[in-house]
This record gives sequence, C-alpha cells and structure tokens, in this order.
Amino acid sequence: MNATELMHTARGMVAKGRGILAADESTSTIKKRFDGIQLESTEEARRTYREMLFTAPAAAESISGVILYDETIRQKTKDGTPFPLYLMKQGIIPGIKVDTGAKPLAGFNGETITEGLDGLRERLVEYRKLGALFAKWRAVIDIGQDIPTHYAIKANAGALARYAALCQENGIVPIVEPEVLMDGAHSIERCEEVTNLTLSTVFRELYEARVLLEGIVLKPNMVISGKKAAHRAGPEVVAEATLRTLKRHVPPAVPGIAFLSGGQSSQEATLHLALMNRIGKPLPWALTFSYGRALQDDALKAWGGKAANFGAGQKAFAKRARLNGLAADGSYNAEMESQAA
Ligand code: 13P
Repeated sequence: MNATELMHTARGMVAKGRGILAADESTSTIKKRFDGIQLESTEEARRTYREMLFTAPAAAESISGVILYDETIRQKTKDGTPFPLYLMKQGIIPGIKVDTGAKPLAGFNGETITEGLDGLRERLVEYRKLGALFAKWRAVIDIGQDIPTHYAIKANAGALARYAALCQENGIVPIVEPEVLMDGAHSIERCEEVTNLTLSTVFRELYEARVLLEGIVLKPNMVISGKKAAHRAGPEVVAEATLRTLKRHVPPAVPGIAFLSGGQSSQEATLHLALMNRIGKPLPWALTFSYGRALQDDALKAWGGKAANFGAGQKAFAKRARLNGLAADGSYNAEMESQAA
C-alpha cells in the first residue's frame, strides 16, 4: 500500500471549494430518475446524460471527483475519449461504486446488509486499470420501529471496514458511506442518536481492520429530521447537530467529510453545507459535498432527455456545482440562488 499516494488522492477529493459528483446510479436507479422525465433508459441515453454532466463548462472548478458506475467507467465521450481519461484531463478524479447493493439481512426484518465483498480484490485491480483512484461503498441504516438493531449496524460497519482495507491495498481511496436514511417520520434527536451509534461503530471497525484514516473520505448523512416528521428542525439546528455528532466520532486524521444529500432538496443541501462551514470554523477536516440528487435534479429537469436542451442541462448542473463549491468554503448565501447560472 502506498500511503503517500492514498493521502494525496484523499486530499485532492476534498480540496478547498470543491466536492464530488455522485453519478454512480445503478441501471435500476437511473431508470427511476429517467422515468421522472419520461425518458427511456437505454445505454446511449445514460451515456449522453453522463456526458452532459462531465463536460459541463466550468463545472470542473467546483468538482474534484466523480463517482462512476460499472457501465459508465467503460463508456466514452461522443468523440471517443474514455470518461475516466476525459475527467482526469479536466483535473477531476475518477472514482467507482463497488458495492452491489443493500440486500435484506437474514433474520432481521426491515434491515439490510450491503453486499459486494466476494471477488472485490480482483474488481479493484481492474477498476484501477480503468482509471479509478477512489471507490464508494454505501451501507444503509434505516430508522423505524425497533430498528436499527445493533447487529445490523455492526454487520454493515464490518463490511465497510473490509471494503476500505481492500481498496487501500490496491491504491484506491475508499469513500466510507454509512447512510442513516432520512425516510420516515422520526425526529432529529432520533437521527442524532442513530448516527452517533453508527459512526462510533464504523470508526471502531475501521481501526480494527487497520484502515489508514488519512487515506479515506467519510460520506455521512447529515443529522436531520425524517422527511415525514411533523415538525422538521430548521437549518441552524441541522448544522449544529451534524457538527456536534461528527466532532464526537471523526478523528482529525480523516482529511475530509463529503456529505450525501439523501433526499434533501438541492437548496436545502447547499444551505446546510454552507452553514456548517460558516459556524463550524475551525474544523479539523474539510467539509464538502458528494451529492447525487442535489447536484443532478435541476440538470435532469432542464435537459428532459432532449438534444436541444443539452446546453441548458449543463448550465443547470454548473450552477449547482458552483453554489455547492461556495458552500464548501462557507461563502454561499441564499441570494445567490436567484442569480443567473
Ligand atoms: P444522494 O446525494 O442523492 O443521496 O446520493 C449520494 C450517493 O452517492 C448515495 O450513495
């Protein structure tokens, strides 16, 4: 394992004012997104959509890395440049989703375990050859009646740690993503309690698996009320609760934390990130974004699957990328939303 190289990549992923685009939707997930704009999910439609995002003018200023999916890492721009090579040339680090999804956890009704460890070493070797310098694995922790159980959290944290160690063995920086879902009607206090337990378990497992903390990026949920909660906590409360929780569990050795958006609106996700960077200073780690939906929703709508709207989609994406870049360095304010892209 080359620690210097891992640390260099990890720091690049969370460089000041930049963050990560999660464009690693599986074929079934991207189909759901395309259904929303009544677009058939063909391989060419998926390729065109990803090309629209990756080649958006000026987006590279705010995007440090892109998470690709197995199909996408093998695709090319229309003039024949492989996506990973195109991104590298723009100064964007290519990454790859390597888990194979959250599956029902036997014996634990309503809980899941993320799969994908079998054969992972060999897949990492291939992805590294295809240009990936970092990877992603998402563990899913749902909040509900009597869940999560301690066992489900421990099993998922153990898988995350084994994945992270394998990545580092192969010179790939692991994004460690334990997502406590915001689906449901739970309070922010309940989210905080579950996120505390999850992060403490994850860092214990990472330590036991001998993972180099300087060579990972943590991708957590924010501490936030459930989407269906009757009274949802305001942005300042979310920012404070999230900072408090992260400070309790994430060692300063970790170079950066890149949040998932998890179903927040695009503007909510940007505002929360900006607030944390404003009120949290000084922080021991970089705090940035690794958003999927919160970076793509506006672009997907503006494009609508129509060739004539390719430029409009790029503009919408570049705007969200820029605003999130500003949020990552604390200089975003809500008035910027109404300014033209
Ligand atoms: P969202 O930002 O849409 O939650 O997606 C991020 C991600 O990569 C989930 O694994």
